[in-house]
Parts: sequence; structure tokens; C-alpha cells
Amino acid sequence: MLNEYHDSLLHLPTENGVIKSDIKGWLQPVEAHYLYECAYQSSTILELGCYHGLSTSIMAQAKYDAGNKGSITTLDVFEKNILQTKQNIKVDININYVTADAINYVMELNQKPLPEFYDLIFIDANHTYEWMKLLTKNVHILSEGKIVFHDFFHRNTGVQKAVEEILGPPKHKVGSIGVYE
Ligand SMILES: C[S@@+](CC[C@H](N)C(=O)[O-])C[C@H]1O[C@@H](n2cnc3c(N)ncnc32)[C@H](O)[C@@H]1O
Repeated sequence: MLNEYHDSLLHLPTENGVIKSDIKGWLQPVEAHYLYECAYQSSTILELGCYHGLSTSIMAQAKYDAGNKGSITTLDVFEKNILQTKQNIKVDININYVTADAINYVMELNQKPLPEFYDLIFIDANHTYEWMKLLTKNVHILSEGKIVFHDFFHRNTGVQKAVEEILGPPKHKVGSIGVYE
């Protein structure tokens, strides 16, 4: 365990298997615990799909606890979700909030003469096969660490099939998450 907060994530109250908190979201305690650990060890973080900021708040706390180096870029296609996430982030760290379609944004990053690379990319946006395949093709180029796909092992999503066709099998499984490094 990294600290008491890290440990406490494993014991958060749940409803239907996902964390029940003031911030609405769909993370399992074990996933939140893993995400905290990944963010704690990362400097540059890209999150695609923040909704109301449950995952963002956990990564933000990790970054703060780890000494506040680097930044988080968090993105959602809906402005109202970005505004809600901003309200839910209580720690003072460097966060870049982006309202955009994730594929468009990633493609723009790839076209920069000096693209940024990320230690941690957390993906939890559109879960359909076609969309995830196009995203994965474009996003993995920006990684110099871990790519963490939420809902990878959910039967009702196209995430696993799309990602495995591009990157092969994941290195780790944590809850519904598939991890590549
Ligand atoms: C499952 S929610 C994210 C939950 C969040 N990661 C959490 O754990 O609290 C998926 C989010 O992805 C966003 N989304 C859906 N399609 C998207 C797209 N094409 N580009 C960017 N975000 C998208 C939705 O608006 C939604 O807020």
C-alpha cells in the first residue's frame, strides 16, 4: 500500500459492484485502487472520458500525494461533464480540461511536430468496437508507459476485441480493466 488513502479505496461502499460516492461513476474499488497506484507513479497523464470526474479525482489525489509533478489532461465530449469534473476536483494540481471527441483530439496530438507522450493513458469513453479500434490505432503512439482500458473485459462492449486486434493480449487484468505497458 502506498498510504492510508490508497488502502481506503479498496473498502469504499459499493452499489451493484461500483463505488457509491458523491461523484457518480462506474469504478470498482479494486479499479480505483489500481488507478491511484498508476497515477501515483506517473508524471504525464491523459484521461479520455471523465464523465463527472470520479476517476479524475482519484488520479488527481494520487498526483497530489506523490508530490505534484507533471499534469493530468482530462477530456470528455460533453462540456457539461467537463464543468462537473472541474467542480469535483478538490486538490490543487495541474489539470488541463478539454472538451472534444477523443479520436479527434488524439489525431491532433499526433499531427503536432513535437507530440507529447504520456506515462499513463486511461481510456473510458465510447466502448464500441469500431470506435475503439480507431482510437487504439491512434492513441498507442502517444504512450511511453501504461495504457489502461476500462470495461475491457465487459462482454457487452467491443473494447477487448478492438484493442487486442491492434495491441495483442493485455499484460494485466484488474477488475474490468485491461492493462498494456
Ligand atoms: C463511462 S463514462 C466515464 C467514467 C469516468 N471515467 C469515471 O470513472 O468516473 C464515459 C464518458 O465518455 C464520454 N464519451 C463518450 N464518447 C466520447 C467521445 N467520442 N469522446 C470523448 N468522450 C466521450 C461520455 O460523455 C462519458 O462521460
